[in-house]
Amino acid sequence: MKVYFIGAGPGDPELITIKGAKIIANADIIIYAGSLVNEEILNNRKIDADVYNSAFMTLEEIIDVMEKGVKEGKIVARVHTGDPSIYGAIREQIDILEKKGIECEVIPGVSSFVAAAAAIKKEFTLPGVSQTVILTRMEGRTKVPEREKIESLASHRASMCIFLSVHMIDKLVKELTTHYPKNTPIVVVQKASWEDEKIVVGTLEDIVQKVKEANITKTAQILVGDFLGNNYELSKLYDKNFSHEYRKVNKNG
Ligand SMILES: C[S@@+](CC[C@H](N)C(=O)[O-])C[C@H]1O[C@@H](n2cnc3c(N)ncnc32)[C@H](O)[C@@H]1O
Repeated sequence: MKVYFIGAGPGDPELITIKGAKIIANADIIIYAGSLVNEEILNNRKIDADVYNSAFMTLEEIIDVMEKGVKEGKIVARVHTGDPSIYGAIREQIDILEKKGIECEVIPGVSSFVAAAAAIKKEFTLPGVSQTVILTRMEGRTKVPEREKIESLASHRASMCIFLSVHMIDKLVKELTTHYPKNTPIVVVQKASWEDEKIVVGTLEDIVQKVKEANITKTAQILVGDFLGNNYELSKLYDKNFSHEYRKVNKNG
């Protein structure tokens, strides 16, 4: 038996993978990150599955439940929000489990940064605009290495997704404007893919006010960069004058 780390997706219960949903349906023990995971994801669980909300647990308590379960031959599903590899704190769990000789598997999920882009129907990687996506956060109680401070990341003027930071939007905007012009578009998406999703569209000039008016203080993605604007080049992939492995240029027009 093993422990499955499952990405639950951003909120909409249909945005979990089929593989993740099947494991939840068969799990004997489910430990889910209750602060963000939509509980509807657990609706198809076995009637006698034991369910734990990790928001109330310490690392040691989580590991104890997993270890005991696996030793009893049970299937353990550890359900994280979005994709577990991003601010999921899975590494510390996996390392302890592996030291104990407990096998683990990770099932990826739809991260909130892609759900936010979907909500506004935008593409991060526009030709002629940006070919790079930076996922980051402001420093809070968790430190961010000096070389990754918003100011230095902003110097690239890439497409940026900022997690865990909407409560510090004024400080964030100050740091972003050291490099992005004030008229750079910025969008805040709260609870992307949930029924009560909120979208606030603005520029670095007016977003602070708009976010305050919308009363958004948590569970939001902040997307910034010129990919949110309207100027870009068409892709080479579908260019009728551009040959590639699957499609050759038709010289006869
Ligand atoms: C601890 S991190 C977990 C991120 C998660 N692993 C992911 O891939 O989306 C929590 C942060 O993710 C963002 N977040 C999570 N779910 C969200 C959603 N549905 N809409 C917008 N932002 C979300 C917020 O910035 C929140 O503060």
